[in-house]
Amino acid sequence: MTAQTAPTSDDSGTPQNTPRLAAAVVLAAGEGTRMRSTTPKLLHTIGGRSLLGHVLTATRELDARRTAVVVRHQAERVAEHARAIAEGVLVVEQDELPGTGAAVRSALSVLDAAAHADRAAHGVPLGQEGQVLGAGLEGPVLVVAGDLPLLDSGTLGELVASHVADGNAVTVLTTVVADPTGYGRVVREDGTGDVLRIVEHRDASPEELAVAEINTSVYVFDAGVLRAGLARITQHNAQGELYLTDVVALAREDGGQVRAILSEDAHAVEGVNDRVQLAALGRILNARILEDWMRAGVTIVDPATTWIDVDVDLAPDVTILPGTQLHGATVVSTGATIGPDTTLTDVEVGEGAVVSRTHASLSVIGAGANVGPFAYLRPGSVLGEKGKIGTFVETKNVRIGAGSKVPHLSYVGDATIGEGTNIGAASIFVNYDGVHKHHTTIGSHARTGADNLFVAPVTVGDGAYTGAGSVIRQDVPAGALGVSAGAQRNIEGWVERRRPGTAAAQAAAAARGEGSEPTGNDDSSDDAVVPATEPATLTGAMPALGAQALRELAKHADAADQPRPTSPHSEALDDTLTIRTARTEGTDR
Ligand code: UD1
Ligand code: CA
Repeated sequence: MTAQTAPTSDDSGTPQNTPRLAAAVVLAAGEGTRMRSTTPKLLHTIGGRSLLGHVLTATRELDARRTAVVVRHQAERVAEHARAIAEGVLVVEQDELPGTGAAVRSALSVLDAAAHADRAAHGVPLGQEGQVLGAGLEGPVLVVAGDLPLLDSGTLGELVASHVADGNAVTVLTTVVADPTGYGRVVREDGTGDVLRIVEHRDASPEELAVAEINTSVYVFDAGVLRAGLARITQHNAQGELYLTDVVALAREDGGQVRAILSEDAHAVEGVNDRVQLAALGRILNARILEDWMRAGVTIVDPATTWIDVDVDLAPDVTILPGTQLHGATVVSTGATIGPDTTLTDVEVGEGAVVSRTHASLSVIGAGANVGPFAYLRPGSVLGEKGKIGTFVETKNVRIGAGSKVPHLSYVGDATIGEGTNIGAASIFVNYDGVHKHHTTIGSHARTGADNLFVAPVTVGDGAYTGAGSVIRQDVPAGALGVSAGAQRNIEGWVERRRPGTAAAQAAAAARGEGSEPTGNDDSSDDAVVPATEPATLTGAMPALGAQALRELAKHADAADQPRPTSPHSEALDDTLTIRTARTEGTDR
């Protein structure tokens, strides 16, 4: 950013005693037709914050005595949002007249009244009619369009400082754009470079249209100059509107000095008019956020596929893998690794946790915990230190204690799980009876079997076990084994009797030492021959595995699982590997 005029302030360019802004006025009454949306334009978001929110955040840092937001189109919605995000903001409804001049006029009348009220409250004597003496608002007034989400407080601060230092009547923030079509053009005086007037596109002469320096709709006005100018502007222009920009020429007429500050960061002053611009500015904002985090010590492997909202907080030495989105008030502690392909919204992640291919919201992941791949944490999921929510696991409103694990294929809703407990694979916490939700409590150091149903409300005590396939409807006391499945029955010869001629029947016959070898599976594909006997071999089922991969697998198989040829197919191969298919019930960790 450079001042186009010779600065009259001290060498630093930023005077020490810049008076406080009397007011900031944010223009938010426009319709935003080009968004083609039922949502008011300024409520659309980038970086997890509304356009209006971005502008109010930038202006808040200037600490204006009062901030007014002017609304009209969908006034209630915009007003409610403004009050929700900016405490103490004055919401002003624009009167019937169209245009930015009308908008600021409405704001000024409310700000004048507030200034009177302030003086009365501070014991300034009342006039004869009970009226408070004084003109109303005094001092510098910032006016900003609400649709400039990348505007930063630094730029605004410089604008105010230079306005005050130069003793300007009006200071305009301008920029030079490649295509100025539609914008108000800034007409400067030869020699001084002072601003003579701003001409709207539709009112401009051919020479004026050739000017590439445009008005950004960010200004500082002296309150008195603004009041005097707004009293005299008219609707005699191409759009029949009251133009705020006309105050510039009127200020000059009255002998005031009007200067422009040229912003070299065109994006910072770029308005959003449609969704194409919304996306473009969203990407620029995101790139800036990522750069800030990388400089602060966060590893972001692929900035092109990483999205981080403005309010997210990351510690140094966090690693973000490709395809990750961090939204809302997400906080990630040092040493944690997030991603790939993970979306966290309002999630707290503890030190050194690993969260991969996960979708989570309003949840807490403890230090050293492990989540995913393919986990879905719904609101209220709290995972303790070194805990695990594994693959294809959905959780909701659950406290999982330190070191406890839900490793595979489970739904855990409305539950409390103690410490050091393992929940078997494919378990469902049956929390809904069709009318009400109920709670399940599992104690500490419990081991529940695979494929359990916990029909809430139900409690499993500390150190208790449950058998595989159990439907736990009654409490299991501490240290007990809860089993509900009946004893297994084997109906001998059933397959050959009831499914004659199938591959299964042939395999059964072969296993008894009769009949022929199975010729293949039922859909006669050659490449997925299921071995006839236990232990099964991998060679038949995975012909594509290379020798190296098989050696790797063999390393991980335990001693009992050493290569053991079981069929003529496997004997023909060098790297045959045998694994047991019948797993111990309850599965693992
Ligand atoms: C305005 C400026 C133009 C500048 C351009 C930058 C005027 C007359 N023209 O153009 O010089 O180059 O912004 O984008 O000011 N608004 C209201 N009430 C209204 C109309 C608008 O509050 O009656 C608000 C809008 O919500 C928006 C801002 O004012 O935040 C600018 O309005 P917009 O219509 O986008 O700008 P223009 O009038 O085209
Ligand atoms: Ca307009």
